[in-house]
Amino acid sequence: MMDWTDRHCRAFHRVLSRRARLYTEMVTTGAVIHGPRERLLGFSDVEHPVAVQLGGSDPKDLAEAARICVDFGYDEINLNVGCPSDRVQNGRFGACLMQEPVLVGECVAAMKAAVSLPVTVKCRIGVDDQDTEEALNRLTDCVVAAGCDELTVHARKAWLQGLSPKENRDIPPLDYPRVYRLKHARPDLPIAINGGIKTMAEVHEHLKHVDGVMLGRVAYHEPEILLAVDPELYGEAAPVADGFEAVAAYEPYVAEQLARGERLHNITRHMLGLFTGRPGARAYRRHLATEAVKPGANLQTLRDAVAHVSRETAALEARLAAAE
Ligand SMILES: Cc1cc2nc3c(=O)[nH]c(=O)nc-3n(C[C@H](O)[C@H](O)[C@H](O)COP(=O)(O)O)c2cc1C
Repeated sequence: MMDWTDRHCRAFHRVLSRRARLYTEMVTTGAVIHGPRERLLGFSDVEHPVAVQLGGSDPKDLAEAARICVDFGYDEINLNVGCPSDRVQNGRFGACLMQEPVLVGECVAAMKAAVSLPVTVKCRIGVDDQDTEEALNRLTDCVVAAGCDELTVHARKAWLQGLSPKENRDIPPLDYPRVYRLKHARPDLPIAINGGIKTMAEVHEHLKHVDGVMLGRVAYHEPEILLAVDPELYGEAAPVADGFEAVAAYEPYVAEQLARGERLHNITRHMLGLFTGRPGARAYRRHLATEAVKPGANLQTLRDAVAHVSRETAALEARLAAAE
């Protein structure tokens, strides 16, 4: 997610689940080929398994960008066919590619020919006045013929005119059954569903119909949901017990990044959602928001922020029960 799932965010989320697959922000082929690669694509070993998401629509450029991403060590190459922003539309990629399924197939084929990693696509169910049965089937046909290894479907249309990207994540109605029907028609194609999924109970419900679930905003705003991924979906213990342990486990990464000259705020801005619901969470957020931006902010700043949060699980449970 642009501006959100940068390397620090991913390294933090990895502390909460060993198994969840993490995705980069979208990077355009132009940026990958001509831009500051280390800054755009560099990541830490701890992040695996991590997929890089590419934005583009020129098969040759996508193949070249995919090769570069292989050299960086990514585990999967994902093509964005879902972003509706004007900038992306002008570049003729993102969601508007729902209208050019043959070209998307050519893009996937070019990347498949260039790299041996899984090549996956993230799309919408359609755009504008497209018939979602036809549009999604056509896109799926084209990418499957090209060798696409998995499709993630954001289960709503994108409206290319008149809505901001933010509105396009909320206003077009969700249509989960459309994605279920696609899976039913394509049992051999791994399909993940995305859009508006907020709880593990919902994740389990979707997994009765499809192979995977992608969590966007909830994972960012309430990262502790990731603590349930390994135990509930993979039958393995969570890497840490709670947010406190997560911060402790993340500290060595933070220390290493600070030693390299990174500012604390660039790391901790992705941790503001931690402890949501616990007494003291607001003071924790406020402390980070005001102190982590200051020159010289360091690990102690993070520890001081966490010290505002109540460790009492009883208090947390009472509040959660009251909220239900
Ligand atoms: C700040 C932000 C940035 C996003 N950037 C991307 C992106 O780069 N690539 C992409 O495929 N989706 C992007 N999305 C969309 C999400 O991946 C996801 O499809 C959408 O938020 C719906 O899922 P959710 O309800 O679980 O958040 C972004 C969403 C947000 C909130």
